[in-house]
Amino acid sequence: MEKIKVAVIGATGAVGQVFMWMLADHPWFEVAYITASAARVNQEYASTVHWLLPFEMPTSIRHTIISEFNADTMKSKGVKIVFSALPAEVAAEAEPHLRDLGFYIFSNASAMRYDKNVPILIPETNLSTLDLITDQGYPENGFVVTNSNCVTAGLAMAIAPLKKYGIKEISVCSYQAVSGAGYPGLSSFDITDNVIPYIAKEEEKIEKEIKKILSIDPIVYSYCVRVPVMFGHLEAVWLTLEQDVTTDMILQDWENFTDCNELPSTPERPVVYNHTNAFPQAKSAWWGTPHGMEVYTGRLKKKDGRIGFILLVNNLVKGSAGGSIQNAEAFVTRFGLIKQESRQ
Ligand SMILES: NC(=O)c1ccc[n+]([C@@H]2O[C@H](COP(=O)([O-])OP(=O)(O)OC[C@H]3O[C@@H](n4cnc5c(N)ncnc54)[C@H](OP(=O)(O)O)[C@@H]3O)[C@@H](O)[C@H]2O)c1
Repeated sequence: MEKIKVAVIGATGAVGQVFMWMLADHPWFEVAYITASAARVNQEYASTVHWLLPFEMPTSIRHTIISEFNADTMKSKGVKIVFSALPAEVAAEAEPHLRDLGFYIFSNASAMRYDKNVPILIPETNLSTLDLITDQGYPENGFVVTNSNCVTAGLAMAIAPLKKYGIKEISVCSYQAVSGAGYPGLSSFDITDNVIPYIAKEEEKIEKEIKKILSIDPIVYSYCVRVPVMFGHLEAVWLTLEQDVTTDMILQDWENFTDCNELPSTPERPVVYNHTNAFPQAKSAWWGTPHGMEVYTGRLKKKDGRIGFILLVNNLVKGSAGGSIQNAEAFVTRFGLIKQESRQ
């Protein structure tokens, strides 16, 4: 099968690096164009990027040349799908522009997440919202599909199979890795040997996004805290459900949650529970197959009718680049793009 040509814009940042690493041997997609800020144009990827991931950089991406951001060149290289890892303020201009030019954009930025006809897609939880791309003019025009804020991605995954019980109230406190702020992110003076009880706009994003993704309307209480770990956001969650539910029922729901298994980036079990008291920990953030795509839950308990648990999501993989790639896989599967491409 001929692979679909994709671009990664913002390929040198924390999220961009995960795109490059995951796409290096993707069965359906092939990176044909990458960009970063102007200072890196014409440089080889390996010679300019500050590689952050705990794996060796794949050989196949080392010599990729960083291009100037130019939609015409991108088109001439055969690019259809664009993965965006741009800062929100840059994405706010670039993404609608690329959509107008007919590109299919899968974005990590918050810039367009709250537009009515732009889905915040997590395939296992709300696949049907992908159809919103037709409201943006697909197939005649391009579209933007976003993924959620990284904390919300983990939360939505753990809650989606419990939605049937009625989600009345969500209380969540997050313990978020420094990579969540991108590179170079926070000053080491601020975060070393420290915990910071505020992350700008994060709590508002969780509240808005969990409601949009799952089409629910609970009361949401949240605190977001930055902690001195590199990867993985831990979340302490309490739920008030409309129905009386046992912890065994919840374990069963997570066990049976196997949606979208046909997509190459979907793990066999997307939510994995472990009974060990000290699970999950941030250091497990890269576990699983594909690495970093599983959401881990633990410490499940019931008190005064409420359900509590701890979860771990890899903010750079399931919480961003991996989630975007999975969204693009869902798109090409649902809209038959693979077949269209191979016929041309
Ligand atoms: N980090 C996370 O855990 C996470 C999770 C979910 C969503 N997100 C979102 O994903 C996006 C990327 O986040 P990140 O953490 O990867 O940020 P980052 O590390 O700061 O990377 C930003 C990328 O955009 C490029 N860039 C910056 N300004 C640019 C400009 N004016 N023109 C062209 N390219 C420019 C950078 O290039 P240079 O390297 O050359 O500066 C870099 O490649 C953000 O919108 C963020 O909110 C991040």
